[in-house]
Amino acid sequence: MDQLRIIGGQPLSGAVSIAGAKNAGLPQIAAALLSTAPLELTNLPKVSDVANMLRVAGIYGAEVTQDARAVRIDASAIEPREVDYETVRKMRATMLVLAPLLVRFGKARVSLPGGCAIGARPVDMHLKALSALGATVSVEGGYIVADAAAGLTGGRIVLPGPSVGATETALMAATGARGETEIVNAAREPEVVDLAHCLIAMGAEIEGAGTHRILVRGPTQWRAASHHGIPDRIEAGTYAAAVAVAGGQIELVNARLEHMAAACQTLEAMGITLWPSDRGVVVSGTDRRKPAEIATEPYPGFPTDLQAQFMAIACLASGTTIIRETIFENRFMHVPELRRLGADITLSGSTAIVRGGAPLKGAQVMATDLRASVSLVLAGLAAEGETIVNRVYHLDRGYEHLDRKLAQCGAQIERISQ
Ligand code: UD1
Repeated sequence: MDQLRIIGGQPLSGAVSIAGAKNAGLPQIAAALLSTAPLELTNLPKVSDVANMLRVAGIYGAEVTQDARAVRIDASAIEPREVDYETVRKMRATMLVLAPLLVRFGKARVSLPGGCAIGARPVDMHLKALSALGATVSVEGGYIVADAAAGLTGGRIVLPGPSVGATETALMAATGARGETEIVNAAREPEVVDLAHCLIAMGAEIEGAGTHRILVRGPTQWRAASHHGIPDRIEAGTYAAAVAVAGGQIELVNARLEHMAAACQTLEAMGITLWPSDRGVVVSGTDRRKPAEIATEPYPGFPTDLQAQFMAIACLASGTTIIRETIFENRFMHVPELRRLGADITLSGSTAIVRGGAPLKGAQVMATDLRASVSLVLAGLAAEGETIVNRVYHLDRGYEHLDRKLAQCGAQIERISQ
């Protein structure tokens, strides 16, 4: 297993290119399975979650070809096969193939998902969405079994809360259903909007993506399509946090400020400056970081996927930062590891109290999930001496060349292959 070795204390400078959004790409790969016409995706990040999802599409019989510019998925000849638990275990997003398979075959059997160990992460809302369109859904022996032999019928899907994944399941199912579907309480994340744009390019009729109420008129007459996905706002926010901890100034090429409003507001409250440039966004650090109050919320609120990274900033701010995690119930696995670097953090239920200001000192730490791991890398950039981050494969799930991109900006970081 690879490790990252970081020597802290180097300010960052230069530019970093923000990749396409992983969480936009994954549902779009699933969406390719809806159509008998090919889909070309031109901004997929080179991360292992995407490779895994393409492998899943391949297991169903989709023909996947790729070059430096694009990935093409031709799902004209897919079959309702079974994906083994080992593949599904690694990634919750495999759930997203459920709706496309149901649309194509009138039945689907998909193993209950795995993914980051950040809480119970039930799938009830996905199943509710499919039932609302006439499918019979049950969970049997670790598998979700869905049946709609006569096809799905448009209807009203009222999601109990704005789940990103369940909204994506609802959207994809609705494009294949006969008649109009209304999705109420839809998630408003840019990745949901990007999926809608991809589906529209594929021929779907969708209105209201980005609001809490989405309308879909089906069934779709599918056509060949090409889609360029949005940049990864979480990757951009992570590099902004890197500047906040390490100091210096970098340009986040391709980043879109309008997708990062809540994170930018918090960064500014902590003393970091951001402004738009011709190519993206520029972030400039400070050595007088201020504490903040942070509560994770569905979009457009502060993203849970940046909570761990901002905790690393809080460790360096003079004063007490309160962080409330409201989306997932077990998303503080980075806390014991940050403490190993000398951070003063107290947990009380879903709240972390971070008393910042004392210098961090390098140590050996263990990555536990994707975003938790990157917060350890960030803390390592600021810590005195050497930090070794173990279990780097968690980072490779969602960050394209993290070590190379940081090194390019002047960080002292290297990957040690074992
Ligand atoms: C997606 C993102 C993930 C991000 C999360 C929240 C992808 C591949 N992953 O995950 O990085 O952290 O959004 O922004 O896009 N819930 C239920 N029942 C369900 C579904 C969800 O109770 O059927 C709950 C979850 O347990 C959680 C909340 O709803 O507490 C939000 O989860 P959701 O938005 O569905 O997250 P994901 O789509 O899994």
